[in-house]
Amino acid sequence: MSDMTMGAAPAAPKVANRGLFFRRWLRNPLQMGSIVPSSPALCRRIAAAVERGADEYVLELGAGTGVVSQALLAAGIPPERLIVVEIVPEMAEHLRERLPGVNVVCGDAFDLKGALPAHLHGRIGTAICGIPLVLLPLERQEAFRDAVEAVAPGKGFLLYTYCATSPLPYRKLGLEAKRLAFTPANFPPASVWRYRPPAAR
Ligand SMILES: C[S@@+](CC[C@H](N)C(=O)[O-])C[C@H]1O[C@@H](n2cnc3c(N)ncnc32)[C@H](O)[C@@H]1O
Repeated sequence: MSDMTMGAAPAAPKVANRGLFFRRWLRNPLQMGSIVPSSPALCRRIAAAVERGADEYVLELGAGTGVVSQALLAAGIPPERLIVVEIVPEMAEHLRERLPGVNVVCGDAFDLKGALPAHLHGRIGTAICGIPLVLLPLERQEAFRDAVEAVAPGKGFLLYTYCATSPLPYRKLGLEAKRLAFTPANFPPASVWRYRPPAAR
């Protein structure tokens, strides 16, 4: 079950809510994966890697405090073309308040077919994963790959990570992998990877 609503306008633009992030980390460190939100430098690199046709959407999975979402908006993605999915109701509520006009879905990124309305299936230009997939077993990583493929066939996804090498065993997952960017200006230093099914090009 999911619940998609547009954030109400207007709202304060700054979304780096470290307090909320840290509280959620205390409750569920594996779900959060990090102790602080992503840095502006990392968010800009993620936004720069986005590919989107004029009638396509950008899908952000595990949007947390909305710092990446805000960088996507700053990079020119229209709010109505951005869909953010967040499983924790408190954080989804925070995103609705902070991201006016953005489609906020409180739901599970491992069930995107159920979480996203049918008219959005097949209309995603880029999916971005903020969920700490590296901490999950292979079966869950496979389930995530399949969830994205169900709504964004052939597109794959961007993943940001603190790992020095690929955070995913991409060959086992049947994906191609490319590191697109690295920034030391994040705690810890981070990279942006693109994973795609081989036939996608
Ligand atoms: C690393 S944190 C957020 C990163 C975000 N860039 C930030 O700096 O605020 C990961 C987020 O993914 C969310 N999450 C974890 N599992 C999820 C799932 N299955 N579906 C949707 N969101 C999920 C967590 O609640 C958390 O907000």
